[in-house]
Amino acid sequence: MLLKYLFAKNENIPAGSAAVFFGFSSIIWFMIGTGLGSFNAAKLAFPDFVTGVEMFAFGHMRQVHVLAVIFGWISMAFAMAMMYITPVLGNTRLWSEKLGLWNCFMWNVALSLGLTLMWTGITSGREYSDFPWPLDLAVAAFITIPLAVNVWMTILKRRTQGIYTTNWFFAASTFMLIIVFLVGNLPEYFHLTGLTEAYMTWWFAHNVLGLWITPVAAAIAYYVIPKVTGNPLYSHRIGHLHFWSIVVFYSTPAAHHLMSAPLPEWLKSFASVEGVLILVPAIAFVSNILLTMQGKWNMFVENLEVRFTVVGVLLAIPLNMQGGFQQTRSINWYVHGTAWMVAHAHLALLGFSTFLEAAAVYLGLQTLMKRKLYSLTLGNLHFWLLLIGFSIYWISMTMAGLIQGAGKIYEVPYIDVVIAEHPYMIARWLGGTMVFSSTIIWLFNMWMTARAGTEVPVGRMPHELAYER
Ligand code: HEM
Ligand code: HEM
Repeated sequence: MLLKYLFAKNENIPAGSAAVFFGFSSIIWFMIGTGLGSFNAAKLAFPDFVTGVEMFAFGHMRQVHVLAVIFGWISMAFAMAMMYITPVLGNTRLWSEKLGLWNCFMWNVALSLGLTLMWTGITSGREYSDFPWPLDLAVAAFITIPLAVNVWMTILKRRTQGIYTTNWFFAASTFMLIIVFLVGNLPEYFHLTGLTEAYMTWWFAHNVLGLWITPVAAAIAYYVIPKVTGNPLYSHRIGHLHFWSIVVFYSTPAAHHLMSAPLPEWLKSFASVEGVLILVPAIAFVSNILLTMQGKWNMFVENLEVRFTVVGVLLAIPLNMQGGFQQTRSINWYVHGTAWMVAHAHLALLGFSTFLEAAAVYLGLQTLMKRKLYSLTLGNLHFWLLLIGFSIYWISMTMAGLIQGAGKIYEVPYIDVVIAEHPYMIARWLGGTMVFSSTIIWLFNMWMTARAGTEVPVGRMPHELAYER
């Protein structure tokens, strides 16, 4: 079907096709990525699990997991959200469905190629920007730039007067991602080394998190909550404050990832202070969404999309508080390089952002396919397995991290720390495997929705019907 539309005329391609393909691709990458995570966790929990084959060594598999979830699951879910929401908010069609479909096709090809190369050991070795530079340029040319062009052109061709907050975020984040990708990979094009390379590597990683994942996830909440609850956004002004403070404050504290490195002291202090200022956009965002929920809190219990969104928004509270706390020098010295940080990373990406993306994909796929969710029970099962699995992961890794930190400052022999952590590693594997299982249920549910979901009559929203029994 995808191949058929790739060569069709733009006007013959049904509206929403690109978003639907992105939606299904994202769920498949979610399944692959979390499957790899669960495999890696098993290696850390049971040291004799799959040994002797170089390609299955932890070092190889870890990189593949991280990039599969960030550029497969999260970013493709974002592309789906953009191709679905941007035209709706502009009361128009996507500028080019054909470009969107090619974008989706090339994205899948480039990511599969990049991950296979990395798996075999061909990598730049720089965390989060691990692809070799020719592939980085291919990613810019075939993934980020076409996505941005489609979003910007759709906004330019809109048939509404203003630009709603969500589209502000989409337009800006796609622009910032291109800059971050091209500048962040400079060390590779120019063979930079030493601290300059380390700083640029973290500048890249930090800004992929802060100028891509964080704002786009937030933009989804700005759409889903008003749309599904029927309440207008509590405050557009606070939305603007959120937008500008993220652009100004989030781009600068990259050095807080390198607090133990011999970077200039002023740079580390600057990053630490700027890092606290990131609380401004975080508080603006969370309060704006929670205040928009006024009078509709029953939907938090009853409605799947609202529940996913609000849980994501609520998780932003511990995430950002933890962030501000862990970048102060003394605390960072304790938790840096421990499982605490792995817990923070999963609170951010498996907690906060994943719940928001899942909401967008649920709502988008049902609306575009005009079909009611095949099984609400399976939807609820997906939600609870994801939430419980993630919570086990987060709590067990936070505890393991504190033990490792104590081991570090009291100079406990390393092997004793490894033994003390063992139960937590098993718990993480269990929690992570629950998450992986939930993705299989989700894929089945969405596949069945496409094939056998009840058709939604014109003028109704699928999520409205889903709750009529
Ligand atoms: C106030 C907000 C935040 C602050 C101040 C903050 C601070 C930090 C710091 C200092 C580190 C590095 C710690 C170390 O390795 O020693 C870190 C790591 C990380 N942060 Fe945050 N964070 C915040 C919010 C977020 C958000 C919103 C996300 C993503 C949605 C995020 C994702 C991550 C990830 C993935 C890592 C792990 C990086 C690695 O691989 O080492 N953080 N954060
Ligand atoms: C959407 C889902 C997920 C995302 C976005 C994600 C993201 C990440 C990131 C960013 C890291 C690097 C962390 C750091 O260096 O601080 C990482 C590492 C890891 N993840 Fe995930 N992850 C996800 C799901 C899972 C699941 C379900 C498991 C299963 C247990 C898992 C297991 C692991 C393991 C074992 C590591 C290596 C930790 C280490 O080096 O000690 N992840 N993941």
